[in-house]
Formats: sequence, C-alpha cells, structure tokens
Amino acid sequence: MTIGRVRLVVRGEVRVPGDKSVSHRALMLGSLAHGRSSVRGVLQSADTESTAGALRALGWPIPPLAPDMTVEGSGLSHIPTPLTRLDLGNSGTSTRLLMGIVAGYPVESTFTGDESLSKRPMRRVATPLTEMGARIEFDRGHDGLPLTVRGGNLHGLDWKLDTASAQVKSALLMAGVTGRVAVVIREPAPTRDHTERMLRSQGAAIDVGGGIIVLDPPERLEPLNITVPGDPSSAAFFACLAALSDAGSITIRDVGLNPGRCGFIAVLRRMGARIDVVDRNDSGAEPLGDMVVRPVHLTATRIDGDEVPSLIDELPALACVAARAHGETVISGAAELRVKESDRIAAVVANLRSVGVDVDEAPDGMRIRGTREPLSGMIRTHGDHRLAMAFGILGASAQAEIEIDHPECVQVSYPDFWRDLAHVAV
Ligand code: S3P
Repeated sequence: MTIGRVRLVVRGEVRVPGDKSVSHRALMLGSLAHGRSSVRGVLQSADTESTAGALRALGWPIPPLAPDMTVEGSGLSHIPTPLTRLDLGNSGTSTRLLMGIVAGYPVESTFTGDESLSKRPMRRVATPLTEMGARIEFDRGHDGLPLTVRGGNLHGLDWKLDTASAQVKSALLMAGVTGRVAVVIREPAPTRDHTERMLRSQGAAIDVGGGIIVLDPPERLEPLNITVPGDPSSAAFFACLAALSDAGSITIRDVGLNPGRCGFIAVLRRMGARIDVVDRNDSGAEPLGDMVVRPVHLTATRIDGDEVPSLIDELPALACVAARAHGETVISGAAELRVKESDRIAAVVANLRSVGVDVDEAPDGMRIRGTREPLSGMIRTHGDHRLAMAFGILGASAQAEIEIDHPECVQVSYPDFWRDLAHVAV
C-alpha cells in the first residue's frame, strides 16, 4: 500500500525565526540595562508575547514586538510595579526567569499560566530563591502555578543544581543582578549559556569554569546591541526533515550555533546525515552560521548522559527520525522531558505507537525500532508546539499520512512553521 507521498524531495532555503531563549533574555536584560538597547530579529510568538506582556505589567515600556526593536532600559534601581498579577501563558522560560527578576525587588508578583504551565515544576526555582531571602507561596499548596513571589532584601547564594536546567540557572543569575548580590551556581552538566554571554556583553563580571558560574553583582548593565540568531530548536525540524527525505538538500540560514543547543547536529551525523555547517560567528555574543543538510540511509543511535541538555527540546523530532532509521534507537537520561509543555516521553511514545511504530517507554526515555512500513494516524499534541512540529515533519516524509490534532499550537514558538514546511518539502 502506498500512502502519503511516494518520495520526499527537499529543496531551497529556510530562515527560521529568532531564537526563543535569546529573545526572552534580550527583552528582560534590555529592560534592566542602563539606556536604550537595540535588538534585531526578536522572535514574534505567543511565548515572547508572554514575556513582553509581563514586563509591561511590571512597568517596563516594551514596545509591540517587531523584528527590529528598541528596548528602553530603566537601570537596576528602577522598582517595578509593587503589586502585579502576571499571566505567562504557556511559557516556562518567561515564568522562571521573571521569578528571579522580581525576587530582587521589594514587590509582590503573582504568576499564573495556562493549564500546561500551571502543572510545571517551579519549586526548583522557588527553593534557591527562598534561600536567597525571597518569600514564595504556592497558592494551591503544591508545586505549580499560581504562585506569589515577595522579593527584596536578598543575600548571596552558593547553589548546587539538582537538575541541569538553564532556566533555573538563569533565574538565580537574574536574582543576583536585580537583588545586587553575588551568586555561585554549580551545574551537574553544561546547559545553554545565553544568560551568561548576554550579561558579559553588558559588562557584568561573570566567571565560568569547571561547571561553576560565579556572578559578581553588577553596578549597572550596559545596553544591548544584538542580532538574535535563528533558533536552532526551530532549525532542527528542517535538519530532521532533510535527514528523513529521499533526495535534495535544505539550507538553513543564520542559525544560532551555541554549543549548548546543537547536540542534534552530532546525533543526526551519528545517524548518517550529511550536515555541513558554515560558522560565520558574526552576531556578537552568540555564534551563528548556515547549515546544509542532505539525506542518507539512516541508522539507529544512542542518546544519553551529558549530551541530553544540549538537545532536550529536539528529542521529539529526533525520535521521529529514529522511527525511520535502521535498528533500535535508545534515548535515556532524559526524564526532564516529562516536565516540559507536555509529558514528552509519554506523548511521543503514544503518538509513535498510534501511527504504527514499535516503541517502548522507559522512565527516562524510550527505545524506538525504526520501520520503513507506511505510517498513518492522528497525533494528539496536548497543545505542545514541539510535538506538532516533530510529527509534522514525520508526516511530510514518504509513506506517511499523519494528521495533527491542533496544528495551530506552533504559535508558541514558530507561527509560520507550516508555511515554511510547505516551501521546502516537494
Ligand atoms: C530553556 C531551557 C530549557 C529548555 C527550554 C528553554 C531556556 O529548559 O527546555 O525550552 O531558555 O533557558 P530547562 O531549563 O527546564 O531545562
């Protein structure tokens, strides 16, 4: 039986939207800077709107999101609105980093969010912030939103993270900056370092080495002058699509190449994909380049350990590539996937099974046995943008007829994803 397209040929170029992690940080650290920041290429999506809306509610004059933005910084001594109720929608990064920012000021902020965000763990941020002197109350008594942060009068912190999390690390650095106290963070494994790079570009004294990050509280932060690179997590969908294709190539322009984000390149190469990266290194604090990806015969691989934080958001897409690779792919050490926008282990396993892939679930990952048989079925996204896009590319590959229940949830990080997919998949 032949279903869907017989062959997938890819061609042309994509320029993915601005990096979500960098965009959030640029809006926040631009607001805290002393003077006017110039930020080009900010991601316009539901998640970055959540950050912009919260910053406005806190009293920072963020203009409407646009590709080229001027962010008026207030300086560190500006006190945000004393009493706020912030709606962070679906965005974990906005919530956790802003918890750190408000913790440094004598204000009270209540954080709320959608159903998915309300279930996500926040104690991992609340516990060290409480150790610094903030008072944090979980309105429902258990971990999750709503929660209220009462900040101010912080003291310094030396903290060992239980989980490798850039959001927790960044929240504590933000609290150090706004609370004007020193912070030492010990990471169990390296995670994306956008906050460290951006703070350093603003003149902050931040020392990194041997898994330890040391921040001396800055007197002031200089304004930013940056171009946000294309989001490697968005680019990864097209790299995976090219890897899954039968012929052609895709060029992805101006992608961020931060090593803390690019684990998917090493994994796709291990699976056999041909990826050429031209590193142009010209965006300021963040490395950036072009990527050309061509199809090959894919073989299974193992993904585990310290590699996981550098590709945590790409695992749903890599699992979809594994579904078409020869042999059994094993993903382990990725329990964090269970507390993302959905339980991405349970959801990826259930969806792969529902379209006809043989897969076992593990507490911290999965085993996927690749198949060349036709795949068909309906994907339940649970409103999770990365599940929609991961199964979107599997659905675009040959011999697949896959429907996505809520394709519009890509608004969270990549509103034009379906248009760009149609442009490169012939
Ligand atoms: C992010 C860090 C990661 C990632 C998330 C964005 C960030 O989360 O999954 O999409 O911008 O710092 P964790 O810090 O929870 O690992």
